[in-house]
Amino acid sequence: MKVIICKNYQEMSLKAAEAAAEGIRENPAGLVSFPGGDTPLLMVRNFTQMVNTGAVDISRAYYISLDEWVGLSDADEGSCGRFNREQLLDRLESPFAGVHLINGAAVDIEKERESMDAYINAHGPLTVSVLGIGMNGHLGFNEAGVDFGLNAHITMLDETTRKVMKKYFGEKFHPTQGITQGVAQIMAAKKVILIASGAHKADMIRRTVRGPVTGKVPASVLQRHPNCYIFTDLEAGAKL
Ligand code: PGA
Repeated sequence: MKVIICKNYQEMSLKAAEAAAEGIRENPAGLVSFPGGDTPLLMVRNFTQMVNTGAVDISRAYYISLDEWVGLSDADEGSCGRFNREQLLDRLESPFAGVHLINGAAVDIEKERESMDAYINAHGPLTVSVLGIGMNGHLGFNEAGVDFGLNAHITMLDETTRKVMKKYFGEKFHPTQGITQGVAQIMAAKKVILIASGAHKADMIRRTVRGPVTGKVPASVLQRHPNCYIFTDLEAGAKL
């Protein structure tokens, strides 16, 4: 694990975008994944700008989203797919070679799960996996207690995740399940980039980096990844 504590959110977002771009330059025909949420917003903006100015070529790379709330598709406000589309895909002047946005609203959610595995099998393994970290240490919706051997799966959401999700949906939507890439797929990535910003993430970053590798803190599994970068701002890195 290489931990890079940046002076602020702006620097963290720029360095993470550069690291993602570098991973694509090393494997230009690979599979890329970015998270949704608040943290990646500026990283994604920076990355988009890099693509649009020709600093990185994604024309041979494929893209898959990391996770989705079961019940929501990229048409729904607050969904990860909509974040991906509005903040990333719609802003790219030259597109990825192919894109799979997880459809959490699929009538047959098991079939959607299978299609994620199939997409990753066809275009993967992931060359660049960018991740956020939840207040409970989750990666995507790999919630506490997750089996590190899983590929794409559908899971019940943790109590903590259900509390935090109010910041995305208010009282409008109360998802109970998520669909996510699995830890096995994340761990198979050639390069993993985890980003964290804010004092509220400091405890989980400390447990991720310094604590035991445990399913209780899913992100701690990244200690075993041979090419993992963690970018934090000063606040999120304060307890290291
Ligand atoms: P956030 O979400 O970036 O909105 O804090 C992170 C996560 O839950 O993975």
